[in-house]
Amino acid sequence: MENNYHTPVLLSECIEGLAIKPNGVYVDVTFGGGGHSREILKHLNSDGVLVAFDQDPDAQRNIVPDERFKFVDQNFSHLKNNLRLLGYRQVDGILADLGVSSHQFNEAGRGFSTRYDADLDMRMDQQRELTAAVVLNTYDEAKLHKIFGLYGEVKNAKSLAKAVVTARLREPIKTLSAFKGAISTLIPKGKENKYMAQVFQALRIEVNSEIEVLEKFLLQAAEVLKPGGRLVVISYHSLEDRPVKNFMMKGKFSGELEKDFYGNSQKPLEMITRKAILASEEELLRNTRSRSAKLRIAEKLDKS
Ligand SMILES: C[S@@+](CC[C@H](N)C(=O)[O-])C[C@H]1O[C@@H](n2cnc3c(N)ncnc32)[C@H](O)[C@@H]1O
Repeated sequence: MENNYHTPVLLSECIEGLAIKPNGVYVDVTFGGGGHSREILKHLNSDGVLVAFDQDPDAQRNIVPDERFKFVDQNFSHLKNNLRLLGYRQVDGILADLGVSSHQFNEAGRGFSTRYDADLDMRMDQQRELTAAVVLNTYDEAKLHKIFGLYGEVKNAKSLAKAVVTARLREPIKTLSAFKGAISTLIPKGKENKYMAQVFQALRIEVNSEIEVLEKFLLQAAEVLKPGGRLVVISYHSLEDRPVKNFMMKGKFSGELEKDFYGNSQKPLEMITRKAILASEEELLRNTRSRSAKLRIAEKLDKS
């Protein structure tokens, strides 16, 4: 693996959460630098299988040369179909470590970081056409307002949307420096980093349809897990954690748990972690990326 591609977060906690059967079929839907995948492989015997997904071609540099390992270069929102194509209708465990890798974040040209004056890109899958620049230069004011407010929890989202729409009349906003220039009067003094991180989060979620694909993934994960199979998810902000928690607890993304006529719950999973698992003090010191990580684990219920 390439040095410094990514340091896996909550590694031993994830492995414990998966409760790996040595001859089982496991899926890592966010392969990245392959840190979690390589650890899963260590717990499998020669009959075990690991299928890994990543939509970013850069992750393919880290493919593990191992007969038990299969790589799928697709979005994890197509989990079920791709597993079926490989001949797996049901699996024993699924891991998702959401968001971007350190590699993606540290590559200036990918446009994920507020540290570099790069083009406003932010696509994990570079085959897609929607970039952050396209969002900023083509979305109408109301849509921009909604994205900044909802996905970035930006306090002055309405004024921000207005400033973007006004600035792009002069010339398209293509780079981070042009963007910052256009919105400079709205950035709170002394809180520039936090503000820009929220704005970038909003754009990244929109560009990669992150909430939509997460919900599609969770629904399919519950379908393809065997009874007793484990779903292990690490999220890094509340907009990701909320659907994960709701789905694990209630089998849906909003509303109350539904029960049938006999009082049996309709949910496919049982959440095992009453509270999210957070990084230990030791990991927090070693890896700053683990600061916002929340791990939740659920088990597929046996309804037979
Ligand atoms: C946080 S990193 C995973 C790091 C990995 N666990 C490791 O130990 O190196 C997330 C990875 O998942 C990929 N990814 C994020 N969302 C995805 C999606 N919807 N479909 C496929 N891959 C996705 C990203 O491209 C990135 O490489």
